[in-house]
Order: sequence, then structure tokens, then C-alpha cells
Amino acid sequence: MTGSDAQHGPGRRSHPSLDRVIIAIDGPAGTGKSSVAREVASALGLEFLDTGAMYRAAAALALDRSIRLDQGEAIADVVRQADLRFDWTADPPTLYVFGEPMVDRLRDPDVSGAVSPVSQLPEVRAVLVEKQRRIGEVHPRLVSEGRDQGSVVFFDADVKFYLDASVTIRAERRVEQLRAMGRRADFEEVEHEIRDRDERDTTRRIGPLVCPKDAVVVMTDELSQAEVVERLCEIVRDRVPASRLNEPVGVGDGG
Ligand code: DC
Repeated sequence: MTGSDAQHGPGRRSHPSLDRVIIAIDGPAGTGKSSVAREVASALGLEFLDTGAMYRAAAALALDRSIRLDQGEAIADVVRQADLRFDWTADPPTLYVFGEPMVDRLRDPDVSGAVSPVSQLPEVRAVLVEKQRRIGEVHPRLVSEGRDQGSVVFFDADVKFYLDASVTIRAERRVEQLRAMGRRADFEEVEHEIRDRDERDTTRRIGPLVCPKDAVVVMTDELSQAEVVERLCEIVRDRVPASRLNEPVGVGDGG
């Protein structure tokens, strides 16, 4: 399957006969949102949308075409032309950019460095918010993860979560991650970077990181990832009737 037909192709896992169920997971970096969102989606039989990957693709496009990182309109234009799509047959869904899969590039250090300024450009946010809403129409059974999913993109989500953790814990997790990748990491430097990034993310004009007032806040400091997933799934099952969830039958469920 090519990227261009990926969103509507035969591999589509959404079930149009079932109700729309949107779960939004927001929160700052370092709370394990992405992995948690992916596991919650898999446990509940929903699809998973990684909106951070879309902002990373925008940053990669800007870098690879030598567009300055403050050129909002030019970056938004190329993002529009790139026709971002996911191949929903892959787990996690693979992002296609100009019809080609983009995976490793999204995590390159230059992209990680450029994504924060790019994600602050109102023109880029407008294109991606619109795109994410359209994805939500075609894939209406979704766990969507990002910074503005419950507050802006899917403000009518069935359940909104805000995952949080103290700066110290987030810095410890980040240092561990960097060291596991064989990179040097200084705790105080990482902690400082996280504080700076929080400040930028919460004060930006468009799509700032906010905790939606109807979100369930989950502090992850004392919880393992598995415990966070379990807690979120329990809350969703409490709030969304089983008939709407229609979860996959797992081993030991008698099916
Ligand atoms: O979750 P991540 O690290 O892949 O996100 C990459 C960047 O994009 C990060 O700086 C936060 C930003 N982002 C955003 O502004 N809005 C989103 N919905 C998702 C990510």
C-alpha cells in the first residue's frame, strides 16, 4: 500500500458500524504519554494517533528544504503539499510524507531540536489541527496523544486525560533514556531544559499546553507504565459503556 491511499486503504481498522469513541491524552514531555497511549489503544481495541510525529515531520520538512524555522507560512505550505497520512495497517501506524514512509528521520537529533520552535508556529498548528480532525472523522475510534488533543483538536472527546509528573522524575526518566542510547546526560542540564520547555509550551499563544478542565489528571511519579495504562483503561471502561467499546477478546477471556 502506498502512503497516498493509506488513510482509506483496505487495512483500515476502524469499524464504521461502531460508535465514535475518542480518548485524548495530553501532558508534558517525559510522562510516557506516547507508550501509554499506544497500549491503552491496543487494550481497548482503538486506533492510536501520534500527533507529535506530525509536528516532527513538519520540522524535518523545514530542515530538509532549508526553510528557516520562523517561516510559518512556508513550512505550513510544504506540510500541506506533503499530504501527511498514516498507514494504519502498521503498529504503530507509519507516517507517510509525500507518499514515502518517514520513520527514523523523526527521531534524528536535528529534528528533535527543531520541533519545538516549529510546533509554536500558528500556521503550522492550523494545518495540523485540521488534518488531525479529518483523521478523527475517518478513524473515529481513536486514542489521540499530544499537547492539545483534549483542549483544542478533540475538545468533545469522550474521555480526556492529562498525564503529569514532577520535573525531577521527568528529568530522571530522560537521563535514563539518553544513557540507554549511549549518550552523555547531565541531570541538572536536563532538568533545566525541561523547565525551559515547559515554560515555552505553556506560554505559547496558539495551542499552549493546558490541562483541560474536564480532564482526569494522572500523576505518574509513583506509577509504573503498566499501572498508568491499567488506571486509564479502568477510567475509560467506567465512563464509556462496554457496548460502545467492544473491546478485543483477549487470552483468558473465554473467547
Ligand atoms: O511527543 P513528541 O516529543 O513527539 O512531540 C514533538 C514536539 O511537538 C514537542 O515539542 C511537542 C510538540 N507537539 C505539539 O506542540 N502538539 C502536539 N499535539 C504534539 C506535539
